[in-house]
Amino acid sequence: MKKKLLSALLSVAMVATLLVGCGGATTTVEEAAETTTEVAETTEEASGDVTTYKVGVAIYQFDDNFMTLYRNEIESYFASLCTDTVKYEVTTVDGKNDMATQTDQIRNFITQGMDAIICNLVQTSSAEVIIDEVVAAGIPLILINREPLGDNGDESYAGILDNATVCYVGADARQSGTYQGEIVLALDNKGDINGDGKVSYVMIVGDPENPDAQYRTEFSIKALNDAGMETECLVEQVGNWATDKGQEIAATALSQHGDAVEVIFCNNDGMALGAAAAIEAAGRKVGEDIYLLGVDALEECQQMVSEGTMTGTVLNDHIGQSHKAVDVTVEALNGNAIDNYYWVDYVMIK
Ligand code: GAL
Repeated sequence: MKKKLLSALLSVAMVATLLVGCGGATTTVEEAAETTTEVAETTEEASGDVTTYKVGVAIYQFDDNFMTLYRNEIESYFASLCTDTVKYEVTTVDGKNDMATQTDQIRNFITQGMDAIICNLVQTSSAEVIIDEVVAAGIPLILINREPLGDNGDESYAGILDNATVCYVGADARQSGTYQGEIVLALDNKGDINGDGKVSYVMIVGDPENPDAQYRTEFSIKALNDAGMETECLVEQVGNWATDKGQEIAATALSQHGDAVEVIFCNNDGMALGAAAAIEAAGRKVGEDIYLLGVDALEECQQMVSEGTMTGTVLNDHIGQSHKAVDVTVEALNGNAIDNYYWVDYVMIK
């Protein structure tokens, strides 16, 4: 009976929106969020013995390979946790890589009375503002994927998480950078294909404000240098995590520097896919006259690593991270204490 009522309400609501409930994975668009809220309230009233928790999920940008896997897993994992008496109603919004848009979305979540908010910040330098507003509203805040380190990876900034209802769930990007370097070190020539005593590389950077990009850029090279390898940076350019930019940067670098390019490090697999296309177009061969590294371990890239068209990648565990974020959210919703940091390991794939 309750289920019937809910589905009747849903079919009306679906005209304007799609929402993630229990059993049906769907996505809610920003404009329709109010419709979602009404459904939840009506549901709760109609079924006294069912508790429905409303969770707002703010993603920095839907148009991102890795964050798409991540947000889909958040939604399906929440759906899998629903029981006859506890429901999670998840509203997911696209920040469109614009901090002002995301700030508005968070304020809407507060106005809508979300019981918890999961946020993948557009800009980590805005963490303080978001934390202050969500904490003042008494709503637990689970930050994901972009560690709040301020503008320039300022470690002292991390103190802003010192709050009983705020936490960060993520992976330590230093580890992924180090693994990229270690994959190169494990090669017979340690990345020095032409034997001139140094590894000459191109670095395709995700987004300079993002700690994942900063740390991967730094620690991949640090791993080589710490092992005694000399390195030479031929090109370092920002590709904003995007395949087309990765391709463009790699193509230009290969035409400018030719055979001098021995390794192309990409801060993520999305850009590495583009670089792979540029490598092929330039008539170069991964594993023979050039090496290519990414991070995320997208299925396509794992396949390329096994076929040899990519040298290696690093698993950015979206399943582990999304499940941890949801588990912590549920703890907070139940009124249990949460930690300020939860770390999920990267895994080397070569
Ligand atoms: C990284 C991931 C990138 C991109 C970025 C967004 O962890 O490797 O592909 O999704 O997060 O912040």
